[in-house]
Amino acid sequence: MMHNWNFVLPPSRPSIIEIQRIREHIHDFPKDVPVGILGSTPEYRDLLHELGFSNIYIFDKNTKFYQQMSTIRAYTNGEYFVEGDWLNTFLECKNMFQFLLSDLTIGNIEYCQRELFYSHIYNSLLPHGLFFDKVLTHPIRNFTIKNLNDKYKLLPVNLETINHFSCEYLFCSQLLELKNIVDTSLFYDELEQEFKNDLKLNKLSLLAEKFITPRNCTWYYGESWVNVEKTYCKMFNSRLIYSDIKSSPYYKRLTHFINKK
Ligand SMILES: C[S@@+](CC[C@H](N)C(=O)[O-])C[C@H]1O[C@@H](n2cnc3c(N)ncnc32)[C@H](O)[C@@H]1O
Repeated sequence: MMHNWNFVLPPSRPSIIEIQRIREHIHDFPKDVPVGILGSTPEYRDLLHELGFSNIYIFDKNTKFYQQMSTIRAYTNGEYFVEGDWLNTFLECKNMFQFLLSDLTIGNIEYCQRELFYSHIYNSLLPHGLFFDKVLTHPIRNFTIKNLNDKYKLLPVNLETINHFSCEYLFCSQLLELKNIVDTSLFYDELEQEFKNDLKLNKLSLLAEKFITPRNCTWYYGESWVNVEKTYCKMFNSRLIYSDIKSSPYYKRLTHFINKK
């Protein structure tokens, strides 16, 4: 899986602005009512501890990943770890949480399971509960490979560039249209062909593969937002919507939702 999470930067992880936004919304919530995180996101786990929450639930199907993420945290506070697929584990948690945090989880859920998934989230929240959810939405056209090549040929080879390379080529480019999913092995094969006469682009691709997004991964991104939105958090009463910042590689393609039950 994500073997080198230390090299992965926002927007593929929670940004300072997103963390601050969540902090402002939840800082005066009661500290003893259960709160939860989808996935093992270290930044969110540190945040909830800093704010003094005492019943923190982490939902992840991968215990090893949870343990690995624990090593890059600031704190070692107690948490309830719930192992298993979100589609099963949330069934056991009806009306339990005052809020849930989620950073880029939608791509892990097959398109046909989305409606069910969001109904489980809804049901696990208390009345008026909040679901903070950062979503890669694809509301506009994908980048063409040609335009990306022109841009990346001029960029320095560093950690920021390879992070942006992963975001733009793998998650927001025309490659998505091959299968309507992200298939990293297939995408790197395609790029290898594309870059065979360009040393710099080839190097960026190899570094992105080594440090940011490995082969053998699949995510359910590629459908356009008009279609995806039809099954997105339909049961919720209201939502606040925040866009990503201009300097982000996901600018105009990423939304931080605060859905209210
Ligand atoms: C939250 S997501 C995206 C990464 C996120 N940006 C972060 O900072 O952690 C990654 C985590 O979700 C977990 N995961 C993915 N699909 C899952 C599922 N269906 N049920 C439970 N956990 C899942 C993975 O094991 C991984 O720990």
